[in-house]
Amino acid sequence: MDKNNLPKHVGIIMDGNGRWATERGMKRSMGHKAGSENLKELCDHIYDLGIPILSVFAFSTENFKRDVQEVNYLMNLFIQMFEKEFAFLKKKDVRVIFSGRRDNLPANVLKAMDKMSKETENCKHAIFNVCLNYGGQYEILDMAKEIAQEVEEGKITSKDIDLTTVRSHLYQDLPDLDLVIRTSGEQRISNFMLYQSAYAEYYFPKTYFPDFNAHEFDLAIEEYQRRTRKFGG
Ligand code: FPP
Repeated sequence: MDKNNLPKHVGIIMDGNGRWATERGMKRSMGHKAGSENLKELCDHIYDLGIPILSVFAFSTENFKRDVQEVNYLMNLFIQMFEKEFAFLKKKDVRVIFSGRRDNLPANVLKAMDKMSKETENCKHAIFNVCLNYGGQYEILDMAKEIAQEVEEGKITSKDIDLTTVRSHLYQDLPDLDLVIRTSGEQRISNFMLYQSAYAEYYFPKTYFPDFNAHEFDLAIEEYQRRTRKFGG
């Protein structure tokens, strides 16, 4: 791996937790638990490598359609992760931010999210962007509404709107994704950071997320480094 040619922003669609558990005769929730443990180890590895931004798809706006028990399990897992398991991120100087809609999320989840972002707000080494109750089409819709509101209030005119305006009204003002990984063999983008992945390289390993370890991540980086990026040129 060439440490001088690392992607600056990596996205991971953490897919296959359910299948990982089912194939082992376990409940789907155990797959999410294993996925969360793997995510901790991956974060450790990714930030040690020197990758400055990691975005993960933790829960989509559509995931609320799942069985209520699975949704509740995930919500409690998020609380546990933000209150306890991700404390090491602050020690690694990683700022935790969230992308998504706040409505529909239980108050105790919002509280844990707010605490996590507040506690790490001055961290400078890297960024961990957690997409939770997130949908890429809603992000574009919410951006359009915010800009329309500013025009209506006379803060800007429609002539002022450019790509900088658009980016600054997304959930987070982050650089575009360089590499998007979706585990489990599915080759879909499923509404993940649509605007920010305009020129992203995609990588679709067959491995289920709980088994997508540091070694597998390095293989993704090596594949990324073999690609020629053209940005339309
Ligand atoms: C998709 O696998 C995974 C999810 C909907 C949840 C991802 C959540 C975690 C890894 C937990 C920890 C995350 C954070 C940020 C604290 P799936 O259930 O759709 O798998 P399947 O396609 O095999 O059913």
